[in-house]
Amino acid sequence: MNDKEYEDFISTVSHELRTPLTSIRGFSETMLTSWDKLDDESKKKFLKIIVEQSNRLINLVENMLSVTKLNNTKDSFIYKEISVKPVLETTIAIIKTQYKDKKFNIETEPNLVPILADKDKFQQIMTNLIENAAKYGDENSTITVNAETAGNNVSIKVSNTGIEIPENEYEKIFTKFSRIDNPLTRKVQGSGLGLYITKNLVEKMGGKISVISKNHKTTFEIKMPAADIELQARTKCKQ
Ligand SMILES: Nc1ncnc2c1ncn2[C@@H]1O[C@H](COP(=O)(O)OP(=O)(O)O)[C@@H](O)[C@H]1O
Ligand SMILES: [Mg+2]
Repeated sequence: MNDKEYEDFISTVSHELRTPLTSIRGFSETMLTSWDKLDDESKKKFLKIIVEQSNRLINLVENMLSVTKLNNTKDSFIYKEISVKPVLETTIAIIKTQYKDKKFNIETEPNLVPILADKDKFQQIMTNLIENAAKYGDENSTITVNAETAGNNVSIKVSNTGIEIPENEYEKIFTKFSRIDNPLTRKVQGSGLGLYITKNLVEKMGGKISVISKNHKTTFEIKMPAADIELQARTKCKQ
């Protein structure tokens, strides 16, 4: 990273940290100073905002930590059999609170096989992809998350309608600090790290990631190894 990139990075990160922190401080201060004047409903509303903004901070910090850990081979992955659907449900429940105009739709096969992955990292991957779909999707649009068996893998697709990613930018968006310059990206905050981290995590766990953006629709697909015995053995050898 050169000096200019470093300065840009620090300024984006500071801004992204400051926004939720300011809101957490503001709402907790109001509750402390005006406790007796606030009705229960307002208190509940304020607490909800504090929780939402804390979640936002946690995701951000997770991503920051991942960047520094990515080149560190000692970073341990704890591989377990994971059912995909509950992870998708938890992830969406958290993201939903921040994107109230969006609808979320999960489509899964009835007997979807579990994947072999590190659960926290898989959740981080799904958070990045689903949050992007919510962040960059059209207003009031529906985000669809589809999971199905695909050979020895489980394919998980996250789709949204909205401004397309030009084909010549497909590779670039997975690199560090890259954001596409369009009116929407300028309007929403981001560090350009999410997809870089996501791709690294997916590939470290033996998966693949790709994107197709056409006809006003963007779909990110990850393919994660299914947790059958042979694949488990192979993954253990790699560690
Ligand atoms: N679902 C999507 N639809 C349209 N553009 C997207 C989508 N997901 C990502 N992008 C583009 O890819 C860029 C990089 O994404 P990401 O690495 O997550 O960084 P960030 O969200 O912090 O900008 C975004 O800035 C945006 O321009
Ligand atoms: Mg992002």
